[in-house]
Amino acid sequence: MRKPMIAGNWKMFKTSQEANNLVNTIKAGVHSIDYCDIVICPPFTQLSSVISLLDGTPIGLGGQNMHFEKEGAFTGEVSPVMLKDLGCRYVILGHSERRAHFKETDSIINKKVQSALSYSLVPIVCVGETLEERESGRAQDTVRQQFEGTFQGIDVKQFEKIVIAYEPVWAIGTGKTATPEQAQEMHHFIRSLVEQKTNQEIASKIRILYGGSVKPENIGELISKEDVDGGLVGGACLKAQSFIQIIQGTVEDNAKV
Ligand code: PGA
Repeated sequence: MRKPMIAGNWKMFKTSQEANNLVNTIKAGVHSIDYCDIVICPPFTQLSSVISLLDGTPIGLGGQNMHFEKEGAFTGEVSPVMLKDLGCRYVILGHSERRAHFKETDSIINKKVQSALSYSLVPIVCVGETLEERESGRAQDTVRQQFEGTFQGIDVKQFEKIVIAYEPVWAIGTGKTATPEQAQEMHHFIRSLVEQKTNQEIASKIRILYGGSVKPENIGELISKEDVDGGLVGGACLKAQSFIQIIQGTVEDNAKV
């Protein structure tokens, strides 16, 4: 059975003091939770102070992006080695904001995925269609294309370590959530792509998170769907109470066991 995962993507929010307050409140709210893997992905500037607060908690730390090289003359970039050095176990890769604003292509993301795996970071790899692609009936084609480009050359054995996040671009930060049925349909499709690329066993193990306006009110319905294994949460992870409630909402998922 797949253990649910909730990952909070803080994006470009939170100064040091705000970060400390948020983490301390989350810690207090989730200390006894063992039914869900919890990950927080603060900005690079907060990683080192946040990790010092996470000691002895079940919460994992992740970066929001990284360069694929281990070091070099890449002004402004952060490497997988640096993320590991600070205690990160995860890294979000291929977020639609990186694709749209920073021109990250599937082939760049593919290099990042390979690099993250080689440094034993768990990549949380995002795929998802725009509104125009959905409305013109091309949602699955887009996701298939992203999937193939992003995971090209990934070893079957390595695949198990990957987490995939389906994030329809039209649902990110808009308040519009995909219906649980739309999410399930795409998650099922993504799992079938994993199976084609690997095998049935790995496809049944890999976690596929949904992202796009996840909140305490909709997590229960989303997670009750067969192929939805958790959430990548943006806006609602910036407030401790809503993030905690989303994590608590995954308890429903244990009913699927
Ligand atoms: P949102 O963002 O929850 O604010 O829609 C999700 C994401 O971008 O990962």
